Amino acid sequence: MILDAEKNAGLKKGDIILEPTSGNTGIGLSLAAAARGYKMIITMPEKMSQEKRDVLTGLGAQIIRTPNHYGFDHPDCHIGIAVRLAKELTAEAIEKNEPQRAYMLDQYKNPSNPMAHYEGTGTEIWEQCGGKVGCVDYVFMGAGTAGTITGVSRKLKEMDSNIKIIGIDPFGSDLAEPVELNTPGPEFGYQVEGIGYDFIPRVADRQCVDEWIKSSDEPTFPMCRRLINSEGLLCGGSSGTAMAYAIKYIKEHKIGKGKRCVVVLADGVRNYMTKFLNADWMVEHKFMTEEQCLDLNTTNLVKNTDYGTDKKVKEMNLPDLESLNEKSTCEEAINMMKSMNRQQAAMRDANGNMIGVITINELMYRLSKKHMTLKSTILDRINRKFRAVGDDMPLNELVRVLIRAPYAAINGKSGKQRLVTSEDMVEFMTKGSQTEEAVKEVKAEVESAGWGASMGTVSLAVAAMGVGAFAYMKNNAN
Ligand SMILES: Cc1ncc(COP(=O)(O)O)c(C=O)c1O
Repeated sequence: MILDAEKNAGLKKGDIILEPTSGNTGIGLSLAAAARGYKMIITMPEKMSQEKRDVLTGLGAQIIRTPNHYGFDHPDCHIGIAVRLAKELTAEAIEKNEPQRAYMLDQYKNPSNPMAHYEGTGTEIWEQCGGKVGCVDYVFMGAGTAGTITGVSRKLKEMDSNIKIIGIDPFGSDLAEPVELNTPGPEFGYQVEGIGYDFIPRVADRQCVDEWIKSSDEPTFPMCRRLINSEGLLCGGSSGTAMAYAIKYIKEHKIGKGKRCVVVLADGVRNYMTKFLNADWMVEHKFMTEEQCLDLNTTNLVKNTDYGTDKKVKEMNLPDLESLNEKSTCEEAINMMKSMNRQQAAMRDANGNMIGVITINELMYRLSKKHMTLKSTILDRINRKFRAVGDDMPLNELVRVLIRAPYAAINGKSGKQRLVTSEDMVEFMTKGSQTEEAVKEVKAEVESAGWGASMGTVSLAVAAMGVGAFAYMKNNAN
């Protein structure tokens, strides 16, 4: 797209390139921009990974993040902002008589997008499969702009019209045909990045697709982990979607021996190191259970000597906290946090179930970005992916959870719900160990004084040291 804009649209060194992106096209453009002397502005929804953001920043791009739930026609969605900025920056340059112009290459409309896949990806697939009629039967691909599927399909069908092209489109996206397939997706959007849109990009030639399959996150991320774990394929999220649904299709259509199916794995795991590759992220997004995560974290070849393997969350005796409700405002949340001297507050629904947690950091961010005011309700700002751990979780595991998240919600059998923070954990842990030290000292004194080391004698001696030490001793006497 950059080479074509240099040839045909007057793009020249020093100009600004703007692009709305789910990240990968942005990375490609930013590295070309870095090498060819362009300034780069990327607009990208917040859903896209921190890893993509960091790579883009490393490449010198300036990044504007936009709320995920803004549709394609919202003026402040990633596309809207890029279109507006391109016009404003160019108008400004003209007014100041400066040569620098701003160009939006627009992967959604730019014919160079599918052309790159016609000349590149499609040709690669054809040649690597043998380059003869009959060498490929099916090709499975996810679609975002649909530039890949359009370009690949045009090339392959030109080479062999029998090749079937299967497009994969998440529930919640409108790319699939017939339109009846496009039933609503999950309430808060799907997690997989790079595929699906709520509009049909102009580059998308859906005539090129023989059949569409709708997809969801649930088989996607376990499939990514399986491709990594059992095949050594360090692939990204949409690759898991493509593979999971390709396998399903192949089974359902009994595509057997002698047929060759190609599945396009669109990107690598490095974009998602803090996402599905991380077992904690899988739990937080309900793609893995707390028990499966615990299993993955358990070292069974060596003994675990960490603090807390023999203690449970319920032993912490955490208090019930005040909570917000679905109508609570930003101001109420701030006041509640102040009164509890905490940096987070839980929200419960009308039935008293905890539905999420709001943090002071989230409020600070939203207020600073002017996404909300003190009077705004905060229901759509709560973190619904909070970590809910059971009362029976060993404390060493709770530490693992708290290293990742600043708090966890405790789901006790009693139905009570509480929050636990690192501060609570440290307080509990150090209280215990200070007492333990005290007990050890008394024990040593008792023994060196030749008073005998029976538990009863030691307990008596400890009673003189204070209630805390005595209580510890009593609890541990059995
Ligand atoms: C991870 C990932 N998968 C799939 C796609 C879909 O590619 P296309 O936009 O060509 O449809 C993209 C596009 O950026 C992507 O980033």
